[in-house]
Amino acid sequence: MKPVKIGLLGLGTVGAGTVNVLRRNALEISRRAGREILIYRAAARGTWACDTTDIPVTEDGFEVVNDPEVDIVVELIGGEEPAKQLILTALANGKHVVTANKALIAKHGNEIFAKASEMGLMVAFEPAVAGGIPIIKALREGLTGNKIEWVAGIINGTCNFILTEMRDKGRDFDAVLQEAQAKGYAEANPTFDVEGIDSAHKLTILASIAFGIPLQFDKIYIEGIGGVTRMDVEYAEELHYRIKLLGLARRTEQGVELRVHPTLIPERRLIANVDGVMNAVLVKGDAVGPTLYYGAGAGAEPTASAVVADIVDVVRTLTSDPENRVPHLAFQPQSISDIPILPIDAVLTAYYLRLSAEDKPGVLADVTRILANHQISIEAILQKEPLTGESYLPIIMLTQKTQEREMKAAVAEIEALASINKPVKLIRMETLG
Ligand code: HSE
Repeated sequence: MKPVKIGLLGLGTVGAGTVNVLRRNALEISRRAGREILIYRAAARGTWACDTTDIPVTEDGFEVVNDPEVDIVVELIGGEEPAKQLILTALANGKHVVTANKALIAKHGNEIFAKASEMGLMVAFEPAVAGGIPIIKALREGLTGNKIEWVAGIINGTCNFILTEMRDKGRDFDAVLQEAQAKGYAEANPTFDVEGIDSAHKLTILASIAFGIPLQFDKIYIEGIGGVTRMDVEYAEELHYRIKLLGLARRTEQGVELRVHPTLIPERRLIANVDGVMNAVLVKGDAVGPTLYYGAGAGAEPTASAVVADIVDVVRTLTSDPENRVPHLAFQPQSISDIPILPIDAVLTAYYLRLSAEDKPGVLADVTRILANHQISIEAILQKEPLTGESYLPIIMLTQKTQEREMKAAVAEIEALASINKPVKLIRMETLG
C-alpha cells in the first residue's frame, strides 16, 4: 500500500521530537498503523533539532497545506494565526489534521470541528492536553459508559515545575522559569504558563469532552501562580497540604464549575504528589469512580508520542465512514448541550486564609465572629510567630466549603478590621475525595 504522506508545520521542540520519534520507531509504528508513514515535506523557520536531509523544508506553510500529495497536515507551530488559516485551508483541501495547538482548539475549535465535519475529515488533538498522557482518548473513548462528575488536573508542566522547585529547594521563581524555558517546557510567551492561561486552554477542551458542552474558553475563571509565596507553600505543608495549579471542571445541579487557580490538595492524595514537569488528570466517572492519568505533560518526545498516536489514529480511519468516526468532542455534534458555566462567585469550595494580625486580645475572636456570621466553619487554625522585625503575626485558617461570594464578603469585613493588615491571602482548597 502507498505510504501516508505527512505535511508537517513547525520544527520547534515538538516538531523536531515528532520527526525523531517517527524515524526511530518507523517500523513499529507502521506495523501498528498498517501503512508506512512518510514525512513528505515540512514548513519551518530558523534552525531545528532533527535531521531533515530527506525532508524538503519551506518557509511557507501554505505551500504544504495546498500540496495535493499531502494526506495529513500536522500543525505544530502553535498560536492562533497563521495556524487557524493553515488548518482551515488544509480542511478545505480535503486533508485530515493533527494539532498540538491547545489555544487554537480552546478558542476556535467549535468552528474548526464544524468545518471538519462538513468535509468528513478528522481533526485530532491529543498532544494539545497534558503532553504525552492519552487523556483525550481516555475521556472520549475509554470512559464513554460514564456520566463524568468532575475532572481535576495538573495540566501545566512549567507551573508544576516552578511550585515543586519552590517547595523542595526554596528556589527563586524567575530562575526556575528560565530553566523551564531552556528545557522547552514553557510556552513561547511564558506568561501563558504562569498566569494559568495555558491550563485554561487545556481545561476548556477537557470540560467539553467530559460533559458534552461547547468549547467556552471565555467563561473560565483563571488565576495563575504569581501570588503563591514560599510562606504559603510552607504553611500548607505544615497543615499536610500541597499547593498545585489545578484545573477543575465539575458538574453541579446549577451548572458547570470551570476554574484554574492555585489549590491546596491534601498531601495524601496521589495527585498532590505529582511533581516537577509531570502532569496528572483525575477523572471521576459515576460508574468507574476516580481514575488517575499521569505522565510527562511537556517536552519534545512525550508530546511527540501523542502526535504520532493521533497520526496513527487518523491513518487507521482513513477508509472508515466519516459519519461513524469518534466525534471530535466525544458527543455527537447535535447532542452538545448548553449547560451554563457558573460564575466564580457561585462556586462552592473550601479555603486557606492567611491573615497578618496584630498580636492583642480579641483579634481572633473578631475574625471568627465574622466568619460565623457568614456561616463559614473553620477546620483548622495555625498561629505563627511574627516574622523577624515585624509586630504583626501570621494566622492561617482552613475553612470548610462555602460559596465564594460569602467568602469574599467575609474577607472584605476582615480586611476592614483595624487589627488586620490588608490583604488577606486566600487560596482555594479541594479534597478531591
Ligand atoms: N507550556 C506547557 C506546559 C507545554 O508547561 O505544560 C505543554 O502544553
